[in-house]
Amino acid sequence: MSRFDLKNCCALITGASAGIGREFARQLAGRAGSLVLVARRRDRLEELRHELTRRDPNFKVHIRPTDLSDENAVTDLCGWLEREKIAIDLLINNAGLGDRGPFATSEPKRVQEMMAVNVMALTVLTRSLLPGMIARKRGAILNVSSSASFLPIPGFAVYAATKAYVTSFSEAIRAELHGTGVTVASLCPGPVHTEFSQVAQRASGSREKSGPKFTYVSVEDVARAGLNAIERGRPLVIPGFLMKLAMAIVRLTPMPLLRFASRFGK
Ligand SMILES: NC(=O)c1ccc[n+]([C@@H]2O[C@H](COP(=O)([O-])OP(=O)(O)OC[C@H]3O[C@@H](n4cnc5c(N)ncnc54)[C@H](OP(=O)(O)O)[C@@H]3O)[C@@H](O)[C@H]2O)c1
Repeated sequence: MSRFDLKNCCALITGASAGIGREFARQLAGRAGSLVLVARRRDRLEELRHELTRRDPNFKVHIRPTDLSDENAVTDLCGWLEREKIAIDLLINNAGLGDRGPFATSEPKRVQEMMAVNVMALTVLTRSLLPGMIARKRGAILNVSSSASFLPIPGFAVYAATKAYVTSFSEAIRAELHGTGVTVASLCPGPVHTEFSQVAQRASGSREKSGPKFTYVSVEDVARAGLNAIERGRPLVIPGFLMKLAMAIVRLTPMPLLRFASRFGK
């Protein structure tokens, strides 16, 4: 599978206003030629653009405040890229959100938002940008999935299912794109300290205990692992030795055993 040279690429990062997405932008500064930063919070995107261009005034950073849960807003974003003739050759589908708690008491609006951002926006953006990459015989798609994609998680059911989609979808299109010059990778982190847990917490829910400290990987290491995977043409990366080991065990465990174990995890 093709490797991707980040030098002078034009990258679009969704969810660039915080956490892992913002770190991707920071690590791409000085390597990428230009960036398109997408998220809802305009002030955060402006702040990040200011930070990135202060160091290099010639670095082109576009910001595009967009609600990716809104189908029309995603279409507008694709239309804007076409009109502005911005040829994206690295798409980082990073925006995402979770919802902790039993599915039966979830807010239907929240469930829809999660599926729209984690699955629909990622798929629509990929579909829109892929033909250009294939025509230019150069491109990379980095889909930010999760270690939650490897197993059903009671209390995090829809989130884990959306991420199972992301990992599966990424593997399938990667195989379809063999020989085209376009590479696809999924990044499957375990716990990372970002705004994610706070956003996933329900207002009515009891405070979720965070996982053991040693399972956490820094935001810097997670973003670095994702960009390395793209540069090396790797299909999937789980940042951190312990998470790699834990997920290798999970992926080798037969489903009846996982089902049995899940009774104790509730
Ligand atoms: N942190 C973890 O433990 C962890 C573990 C595994 C995988 N992940 C995955 O990593 C990715 C990044 O998460 P993070 O940890 O960096 O979380 P985060 O700090 O909460 O950042 C999430 C980003 O997604 C954007 N976003 C959310 N809803 C959006 C919407 N409707 N429209 C546009 N943008 C939206 C947010 O921007 P606005 O709010 O400004 O719109 C923000 O920039 C997600 O896909 C997440 O599932 C995280």
